[in-house]
Amino acid sequence: MAIERTFSIIKPDAVAKNHIGAIYNRFESAGLTIIASKMVHLSKEQAEGFYAEHSARPFFGALVSFMTSGPVMVQVLEGENAVLANREIMGATNPAEAARGTLRADYAASIDENAVHGSDAVESAAREIAYFFSAEEVCPRTR
Ligand code: TYD
Ligand code: MG
Repeated sequence: MAIERTFSIIKPDAVAKNHIGAIYNRFESAGLTIIASKMVHLSKEQAEGFYAEHSARPFFGALVSFMTSGPVMVQVLEGENAVLANREIMGATNPAEAARGTLRADYAASIDENAVHGSDAVESAAREIAYFFSAEEVCPRTR
């Protein structure tokens, strides 16, 4: 088992519904440690840059519009196999297909407003963490 870091966003729908604490509890209960965190309201440019890999997809405009519709929480999670562990906690992209007990099953309304983002690989996690956090803002546990 490798100790990894992954990048997570609590999206505007879940922030608006006051689910930040419940979602943080899921991360911590699953053994992931929050080592960086902040609330931000993304600009159009920030959201477009973050989701650049999807820029040619038909849903891109709606995705950027949704992601800029209100504040989000961004965080770095650390733990054993953190990338895959977080994807399992999140559930499938489409909440209708998300396993029972996952964040998207419990907190997401639709595929386009699906409560959380999580990195899909160690490499994308490193890029996404650096997109939002400086090295000084990431605070690994010392005890
Ligand atoms: P994707 O990276 O495929 O999913 P995930 O968030 O599970 O890694 O897509 C990024 C986001 O784009 C997804 O969370 C919601 C949005 N999206 C849509 O609105 N419609 C779609 O058909 C897909 C595939 C994604
Ligand atoms: Mg993805």
